[in-house]
Amino acid sequence: MAVLSKRQQFLFWIVAAVLATAGLITIVAREHQPAPARHSLYVIGIPEKGAALFFGAKHCSICHAVNGAGGRVAPDLSGIHPGTPAMGWLASVLWNHAPGMWRQMRGNQSPRLNQEEMAHILAFLYQAGTADRPGDAAAGKRVFAAKGCAHCHSLGSEGGHLAPDLSHVAASGDAFAWMRAMWNHAQAMVGPITREIGQWPQFKGGEMNDLIAYAGANGGGATAGGSVLRGSAERGWQVFQAKCMACHAVRGNGGHVGPELGPDHDLPNTPAQFAAVLWNHAPAMLAHAPTPSAGTPALEGDEIADVLKFLVSLRYFEPVGSPFLGERVFTERGCARCHGAKAEGTREGPRLRSGGDAFTTVSLATALWSHGPAMRARAERLGIEWPTLEPTDIGDLISFLNDPGRQK
Ligand code: HEC
Ligand code: HEC
Ligand code: HEC
Ligand code: HEC
Repeated sequence: MAVLSKRQQFLFWIVAAVLATAGLITIVAREHQPAPARHSLYVIGIPEKGAALFFGAKHCSICHAVNGAGGRVAPDLSGIHPGTPAMGWLASVLWNHAPGMWRQMRGNQSPRLNQEEMAHILAFLYQAGTADRPGDAAAGKRVFAAKGCAHCHSLGSEGGHLAPDLSHVAASGDAFAWMRAMWNHAQAMVGPITREIGQWPQFKGGEMNDLIAYAGANGGGATAGGSVLRGSAERGWQVFQAKCMACHAVRGNGGHVGPELGPDHDLPNTPAQFAAVLWNHAPAMLAHAPTPSAGTPALEGDEIADVLKFLVSLRYFEPVGSPFLGERVFTERGCARCHGAKAEGTREGPRLRSGGDAFTTVSLATALWSHGPAMRARAERLGIEWPTLEPTDIGDLISFLNDPGRQK
């Protein structure tokens, strides 16, 4: 940064601000335009690049695993399912656990991260948090019986023969092939299942994940968690427009036959949980098909994961907040002790709003990462506890720190 001229710095910040506020992917809806042109995608933080940094240059995986791959010293980061608001949640998780992490890193071995790298890593962590945990094949076998599947289907050596043996579906060893087949054949199963079983079986909690693990155990050993990075939000948006939008809207755009699926609607965030919801609602969705034979659209390849990534991406954006609440949070959490009530700076901590550089979640997380160890050392010397943050604090703090009116 030091080598950039004022003008370059200005441009840099404009670009950074535009990208960062867009979050991983923000869908900007412009109404009254034809569907394909109605939304544009802004992408920062590329999960694949985050994965490369996590497992490569930044050595996070020396201590952390994601879905079982990596170190055992620190928590498996796929176990932390994102709360809301997603970016505020990520930044606060990182903030709150930083002192424990630095203790483990012993001194200043913590890898340096610039803003771009932080954005990639946050995007990757967010995606890692939306992967399924490895399912339990033994539990899945019980699910297969309890839901009545075994009444008609066989898998391996057990089960009924009223319907096709499912070994060939399981044989691919691909969790998505299994989810896809269930969705695509739901229409043909509605009649027989309601006749034979009396009701459409409902999947709860981890049941679908366990069933997939059971199928996987009969095939190539796949679990739904297999690949953290499967699915693309961008492809998902295409699939959503082609196959779902006639009945479902996001942020008011689209059909209203089924519920709106935008950020305010509560949705499960892993592929197996999502496949379970699709299955559970399949008969009701089919009942609303324009013609009985039209059914609901078949999904191919990884399209379940794609649509899910798209829907989840709508929930990953810069948290909004209030400068008034932020000022209070700044004092209540103890930041003001060192930085001053207006973040104007004191002997114990620098002024936090210099020269118009707007804070974003990514820049706040990056500042924490690079200045945190010194901050913690100061807190220890002063006998102050490390201030912990709530996910919603982040948006408020950013609004406060960026509001020139509250800076004196
Ligand atoms: C030297 C070991 C080590 C390295 C390297 C490391 N961490 Fe950590 N990390 C930890 C420990 C230990 C904790 C748990 C701290 C606690 O809870 O007090 C932690 C906690 C976390 C958490 C919060 C987890 C939770 O369960 O809430 C996140 C997120 C995180 N680290 C991200 C990263 C990232 C990203 C990197 C790489 C840039 C990284 N860590 C590198 C040891 C490490
Ligand atoms: C009442 C009998 C019945 C029950 C119970 C039943 N199915 Fe089916 N299933 C069928 C029939 C019939 C087909 C073939 C549909 C077709 O031809 O499209 C089928 C097809 C499938 C397929 C696609 C098979 C292929 O060859 O691609 C899968 C996967 C499947 N079922 C999974 C399940 C699961 C999982 C359950 C339990 C939740 C279940 N089924 C319960 C009758 C049943
Ligand atoms: C023919 C219209 C139609 C199509 C096409 C359709 N859906 Fe639905 N969907 C519905 C209806 C109606 C419901 C409400 C079902 C109920 O009340 O159980 C629903 C429910 C759902 C739900 C559960 C929402 C909840 O939490 O209550 C999800 C998730 C969903 N659909 C996703 C999709 C996806 C993804 C696609 C595209 C692959 C799709 N739907 C295509 C009509 C449709
Ligand atoms: C114990 C005193 C202390 C507390 C409490 C404290 N800080 Fe700091 N903070 C510091 C010091 C000292 C630095 C400078 C560290 C350095 O030089 O690397 C700093 C640096 C920062 C920076 C980086 C500034 C820059 O120039 O980029 C940010 C952002 C920040 N603090 C935010 C906060 C927030 C938000 C809180 C409350 C949640 C907080 N701090 C609580 C002492 C503190």
